[in-house]
Amino acid sequence: METLEKSPLTSNSTTDFLPLNGTDYVELWVGNAKQAAHFYKTAFGFQSLAYAGPETGVKDRASYVLVQNKLRLMLTSPLHSDSPIAEHHKKHGDGVKVIALWVDDAYDAHKQTTSRGGVSCMEPKTLSDKHGEVRMSAIRTYGEVEHVFIERKNYSGVFMPGFVEWKSDYNPEPTGLLYVDHCVGNVGWNQMNPWVKFYEEVMGFKNILSFDDNDISTEYSALMSKVMSNGNGFVKFPINEPAEGKKKSQVEEYLDFYEGEGTQHIAIATNDIVSTVRQLMARGVEFLKVPSTYYDDLLDRVGPIEEDLAPLRELGILVDRDDEGYLLQLFTKPVEDRPTMFYEIIQRKGAKSFGKGNFKALFEAIEREQELRGNL
Ligand code: FE2
Repeated sequence: METLEKSPLTSNSTTDFLPLNGTDYVELWVGNAKQAAHFYKTAFGFQSLAYAGPETGVKDRASYVLVQNKLRLMLTSPLHSDSPIAEHHKKHGDGVKVIALWVDDAYDAHKQTTSRGGVSCMEPKTLSDKHGEVRMSAIRTYGEVEHVFIERKNYSGVFMPGFVEWKSDYNPEPTGLLYVDHCVGNVGWNQMNPWVKFYEEVMGFKNILSFDDNDISTEYSALMSKVMSNGNGFVKFPINEPAEGKKKSQVEEYLDFYEGEGTQHIAIATNDIVSTVRQLMARGVEFLKVPSTYYDDLLDRVGPIEEDLAPLRELGILVDRDDEGYLLQLFTKPVEDRPTMFYEIIQRKGAKSFGKGNFKALFEAIEREQELRGNL
């Protein structure tokens, strides 16, 4: 049963031991960062921001940082086979390695989380250059994903020490993508509650919403999900685990092909989903399609909305309503050959939930894709 807590976003900052200002960047480890960067510029409208690699004194990797409004995406590939990045890519294919969180004190964030059982993967350190200093530290989360805590209040450079500004003559128009709304983790059987506990105890998050397999099931496959939010609501991490169904859960398909736990999707906010999705589609981004019958009784289900129905139907944009308003959303197909990570485009009009009313139509669309891959 869905349960919506009434006071998720009101925790008192004096009791928040891990205050977060938002998502700082997301780093993907990929097979070919140079080509991936071109894809994210061309298809999603990201802009070149910063670069680190052999030309800047980094010998083992190349990293490209892209920006669009408050969104920062880092794409990193290994330069040699004997690299942890190469090992990671061999096992998982392209995927999220770091979800970096913007803090005011990276040393304290490390102390607070590791003293509560968080496992350190980077001791606090200070990097400096002529633009000032960035302080950072990191702990592990599900799978091989890390949370880097990054403090940049004394830094005025383009990204961080070690990176140079990446000036490019190729600058496709942005598509209206604004910031990370939420990042979803897929974890193994019976692992959702341990990771919920991790976010509660180690990071001070709260469980604001829960879905069980009665909410999230179709005739065939099922999953369970709990949404974790930090104190001010700027950072939200839904955690999914597979559930038993007649056929294979979409989360299980992910775990099989990612060969472990990892980030399932990154939801990106826009203020004009019709415009954003129209541009993304024109640039070749592929989205999941629900049947056009979804729109026949849409307004009966969600009540009045400000948008015209015709473009929503044309583009396949989904709508859902909760007590506080409504939201519009749409999901891309996986952006790798493995059926693993994908993106969500979301426009919130008051709603703070995640589109439960769309789960059935959406999961049936995912199952049709699973069926085509022979994985249902
Ligand atoms: Fe989502």
